[in-house]
Amino acid sequence: MNLTLKIWRQKNADDAGEFVTYQAKDVSPDMSFLEMLDVVNEGLTSKGDAPIAFDSDCREGICGTCSLVINGTPHGGQKATTACQLHMRHFKDGESITIEPWRARPFPVIRDLIVNRQAFDKVIQSGGYVSASTGGNPDANAIPVSKHNADTAMDAAACIGCGACVAACKNASAMLFVSAKVSHLRHTPPRSTRERSTCPFDG
Ligand code: SF4
Ligand code: FES
Repeated sequence: MNLTLKIWRQKNADDAGEFVTYQAKDVSPDMSFLEMLDVVNEGLTSKGDAPIAFDSDCREGICGTCSLVINGTPHGGQKATTACQLHMRHFKDGESITIEPWRARPFPVIRDLIVNRQAFDKVIQSGGYVSASTGGNPDANAIPVSKHNADTAMDAAACIGCGACVAACKNASAMLFVSAKVSHLRHTPPRSTRERSTCPFDG
């Protein structure tokens, strides 16, 4: 497939930014959207140009890091599909594709397609929860987990914290995320009685 890409380039939060047009040639329909961008970036870096900055981590649809608005829709509009799990077979040969970052005031652009999603961290912190290093993953089955707790954990993990709901909402509302976190964190006991008494997610 040969595609025309109109990609938002912005050097930093203060830069006005603009769409830049790129040609993506010989794209395999089996590539993921991010793999297609990887190939475009290889072409740019081989010419000495700055690669297009975009976020990704797991590339398995579970971490919530990828954050592209594709043809005007966050994650590209395939049902229950993040941008990293979107495959090029969903596009047509010769198609023109527009790629932008999340457009929401609480998520300022850091560079190109990367936005700052610390606003979500503040929501989590308001419940008294923080990130803490707990070491490596334990071996599978080392800690027996009841079926009920396993099901509850899966439900709690349904929101991957990507921010697409904020990007999709004309008011940039985070209420889908907040409601998912209220449901999630009420299953995670605060660490002390004092924290429990002040935790907005408890009870
Ligand atoms: S609720 Fe929002 S942040 Fe959570 S997975 Fe859905 S779109 Fe992403
Ligand atoms: S990179 Fe993890 S969900 Fe897309």
